[in-house]
Amino acid sequence: MSDEITNEKESRRNFPLPVTAMASADKNDTLVQQGVHLFYIKGCEYCHNINHYGGNKGPDLTTVGNRLSAEQLQIRIVSGGDNMPSYGGILNKDELNKLVAFLELQK
Ligand code: HEC
Repeated sequence: MSDEITNEKESRRNFPLPVTAMASADKNDTLVQQGVHLFYIKGCEYCHNINHYGGNKGPDLTTVGNRLSAEQLQIRIVSGGDNMPSYGGILNKDELNKLVAFLELQK
């Protein structure tokens, strides 16, 4: 159990380096690692910055875990917003959970 927590912290601290490393994420990866991967392949990073890496069309998400709960993150991703596409029809529930698992650690 404590191993898992360390791994999640690791993947968060080392972002964005794992972003490219994560391109080969498979089903054995943790939720969070898969969330990093999705953040990359679904184009979130095109608009959002995390730890000085990514675009600036949308808000910086480096500390989004302090601002939004898991539920609020989900709602925002599914519904989109001003200048943010709605991902409700793009992500399945599994992918949504992985993205939220990753984003809620960004504190
Ligand atoms: C085309 C650019 C764009 C893309 C792609 C995009 N976003 Fe956004 N996002 C935005 C903008 C702009 C806002 C602010 C909109 C608003 O407040 O109504 C936003 C807001 C958010 C917020 C709320 C941030 C806060 O501080 O309140 C979250 C969380 C978020 N986006 C996550 C994601 C995730 C996860 C993805 C990928 C699945 C994604 N976004 C893809 C542009 C984008």
